[in-house]
Amino acid sequence: SKNPLVDRFGRVHDYLRISLIEKCNLRCTYCMPEQGIPLSPKSHLMTSDEVFALAKTFVDLGVKKIRFTGGEPLLRKDFDEILRKVAELPVELAITTNGILLDRYYDLLLELNVRSINVSLDTLDSKKFEEITRRNQFDRVMKNIELFNNEHFDLKVNAVLMRGFNESELVDFVEMTQHSSIAVRFIEFMPFGGNKWEEEKTVTLADILGVMNTFYGEEKVVSHAHLPNETSKIFHIEGYQGTFGVISSVTSPFCGDCNRMRLTADGKMKNCLFGQDEKNLLSALREGQDIESLIRSSVHEKHEKHGGLSLDNENADSLDKNRSMILIGG
Ligand code: GTP
Ligand code: 5AD
Ligand code: SF4
Repeated sequence: SKNPLVDRFGRVHDYLRISLIEKCNLRCTYCMPEQGIPLSPKSHLMTSDEVFALAKTFVDLGVKKIRFTGGEPLLRKDFDEILRKVAELPVELAITTNGILLDRYYDLLLELNVRSINVSLDTLDSKKFEEITRRNQFDRVMKNIELFNNEHFDLKVNAVLMRGFNESELVDFVEMTQHSSIAVRFIEFMPFGGNKWEEEKTVTLADILGVMNTFYGEEKVVSHAHLPNETSKIFHIEGYQGTFGVISSVTSPFCGDCNRMRLTADGKMKNCLFGQDEKNLLSALREGQDIESLIRSSVHEKHEKHGGLSLDNENADSLDKNRSMILIGG
C-alpha cells in the first residue's frame, strides 16, 4: 500500500472533509456575508462521480474518515447517490448539517451506518434562531435532533458562541445533557471571509469554564482525557448523562494533532481551515493529471498552525481574504 500522508511536522492526515454544495437553506451571519456569495457555475462543481473518484484517491492514500459538509450537504439533490457510492469505500462516513432536512435521510443514514451526525444549533430560543439564521426553522431542527438522539447515532450539537448573542445560554445548553446522552459542543467564533470577526466577539474556553465553575461548582465540572485528533476539550457535569465540549480553535487550537484535509465543492483541496493555498484536484481529475502528487504537495506545504496566520485583530484583513465558511464547510 501507499505511504501515508505525513506532513513536515509528522502529522498523519487520515481525515477528509468534503463540502458537497455551496448553497444553504439558512443564512447564518457568522458563516456568510449578508449580501450572499457568488456561486460557482455548476460545471465547476464536482459531480457525484467526481466526488467518488476523488474520495477514492484519498482513501487509497490512507484516509479513514470522510465527513460531508457544505453549505448544507443535505440540499444536494444527489446526496443519496453520493453517499451510497462513497459508502462502498473502506472509510467511516460522517455528516455535519444544519438539521433541517435530516428526517428525510433517517433510513439512508441508518442503512449505510453513518453514525456521526453533527447538527448546528446556536441557540435554544426560536426568536434568536431566526435572528442568527435569518430563517424560521427552529422547530424542525429541534425535532430532528430529538429524532436522531438515539442509540443508532452519535449525535453532536454544535453551538458557535458569539459575545452578546448567546453566551447567556451556556447553562441551558449544558442542562440538555442532564437526562440525555447528547454531546453539546461550544465553538469559539472564528474569522472567515466576510464574517466581521473581531477577537472581542469570541467567547473563549476560559470564559466558558468560568461560567460552568461558577454555576455548577468547580468540583462538579469533570474534565475528560483528550483523545487524539479530537477538536474539542470534553467535560461533563457530575451525574449528567451527556457531555459538553469546547472547540477552542482560537485560544487553544488542536493544530498539533491536526489530521485534516478539506475538499471544497468546486474540487479544490485546502490543507488547513485557515490555509489560503488551494490545489485544484477537480481540474487535474478532468484533465487526467496526477492527483496524488498534488495532494502530497498540499500536505507538504501545510503550516504548523492556523495556516501560518495568528487569529488576532492585527491579521483581520488577511483572515478576511479566506473563503467564507459556507464555501469551506468548517
Ligand atoms: P468530528 O469528525 O466529530 O471530530 O467532527 P468535528 O468536530 O471536527 O466537526 P464539525 O463539522 O462538527 O465541526 C465543528 C467545529 O470544529 C467547526 O467550527 C469546525 O470549523 C471546527 N473544525 C473542524 N475541523 C477543524 C480543524 O481542522 N481545524 C479547526 N481549527 N477547526 C476545525
Ligand atoms: N466560527 C466557528 N464555527 C463556525 N461554524 C460556521 N462558521 C463558523 C465560525 N465563523 C460552524 C458551524 C458548523 C460547523 C461546521 O462550523 O456552526 O456547526
Ligand atoms: Fe489543522 Fe489548520 Fe485547523 Fe490547525 S487550524 S487544526 S492546522 S486545519
